[in-house]
This record gives sequence, structure tokens and C-alpha cells, in this order.
Amino acid sequence: MHFDDKAKTWDSDPIKRERAFAVAAAIRRRIPLSSDWHALEYGCGTGLLSFALHAELSRITLADSSPGMLAVLEDKIAATGFSHLHPLALDLVTDPPPAERYDLIYTLMTLHHVADVGRLLRALHGLLRPGGWLAIADLDREDGSFHGPGFTGHNGFDRTALRVQLMRAGFDEVDFSTCYAMKKATDRGVREYPLFLAVANRP
Ligand SMILES: C[S@@+](CC[C@H](N)C(=O)[O-])C[C@H]1O[C@@H](n2cnc3c(N)ncnc32)[C@H](O)[C@@H]1O
Repeated sequence: MHFDDKAKTWDSDPIKRERAFAVAAAIRRRIPLSSDWHALEYGCGTGLLSFALHAELSRITLADSSPGMLAVLEDKIAATGFSHLHPLALDLVTDPPPAERYDLIYTLMTLHHVADVGRLLRALHGLLRPGGWLAIADLDREDGSFHGPGFTGHNGFDRTALRVQLMRAGFDEVDFSTCYAMKKATDRGVREYPLFLAVANRP
């Protein structure tokens, strides 16, 4: 699998580390994090975002569908000795949802890889406690140059259309902000791709 092959060198890219720190800062600005909360990171990769937020939360379940990513994550957790970070093999497109309910769910650069976004948003809504928060950081609509030819996911998202999908999934108070500008080398040189942070609440 694509992400299994990339897992071992994922954290050596300074842009990915900087991106996770920027998104963590944006989440802190928009959501009143509580040290009582159990959070779920969906599509956690090697856990960069959760490692940036871990001190502000009681417990974090880090879910991903890539065994390679989860193996790197397990090594990182073992190296730190953190007992409040828990990896989970999970693909909500094909697997039954966990029984646990969460105070906060966040996801970074994963939504554009999931074909049925409406289905995933409904699943995430169902995993939140009433009053719980969802934070999605992902690419704004782009021209396909971010991944290049052959990519079968979404070329970013239109904020208005995603807001409608979030409301249809049962969320309210959807708030969008720009949280990072990601520089990436493409066929046409280095380009900058804005990332939004969408924050929504389960009533
Ligand atoms: C671009 S990476 C982002 C990883 C991490 N969030 C980061 O920003 O460093 C996308 C991640 O989503 C995971 N992923 C893709 N589709 C998934 C799915 N259907 N369910 C769970 N994880 C998925 C991949 O395995 C990968 O780790």
C-alpha cells in the first residue's frame, strides 16, 4: 500500500512536521480543549498531530488503515513511554465503528483520500458524544497538481460544499479558517496549497 511504503520516512519531512504543528495551533485557537477529553485522530499516520496535542488531552485513540503507519506510530509511543496514546487499525469505510464515544475527533489530510466523504462524516458524527467537536484539516479545492496524474481521491474541497455535507451529516456551527499554506514541488515548480480547518459541533 502507498502509505505503508512511505511510513518509515514520513517524519523526516520538515513540511509534514511543520504542518502538524500549525494545525495543532489552529485547533487550540478554535476549540476549548480539556484535559478530561478522550480524542480520536482519524487517519493519524505516524501521529504527528496527536504528538503535538497530547499534553492537552486525557487520552487519544490514533486510528489509521495503514499497518506501516501504525507500526511506526507504535515504535514512537514505545520510545516515549506515553500510556495515554492508543493506536487502532481502523477504516470506517469498511470496518464497523468502535463502541467508544469521543469528545473530540480530528483528522489531517485524510478526507481527500476517502471516496465516500458523506458516509465518513456520518460515521464520525456517530462516534462523537453530544456536544463533541470535529476538526478537519485538509486541502482547499486545487487543480489536481498536488498529487499529480493517476490520483483517484479528491482534489481538495470546496468549503461551501463541504459545509453542506457536514450539516447533512448532523453537525451545526461549522466554522472554516485557513490554517496552513503547504509548499510542494510539482511539475510546474514549487507551489503553495492552502489548507482549511473546518470545526463543527455535534448538537
Ligand atoms: C496524507 S496521510 C496524513 C497522515 C497524517 N494525518 C499526517 O498529516 O501526517 C493520510 C493518512 O490517512 C490514512 N488513510 C487513508 N485512507 C484511510 C481510511 N479510509 N481510513 C483510515 N485511514 C486512512 C493513510 O493511511 C495515511 O496515514
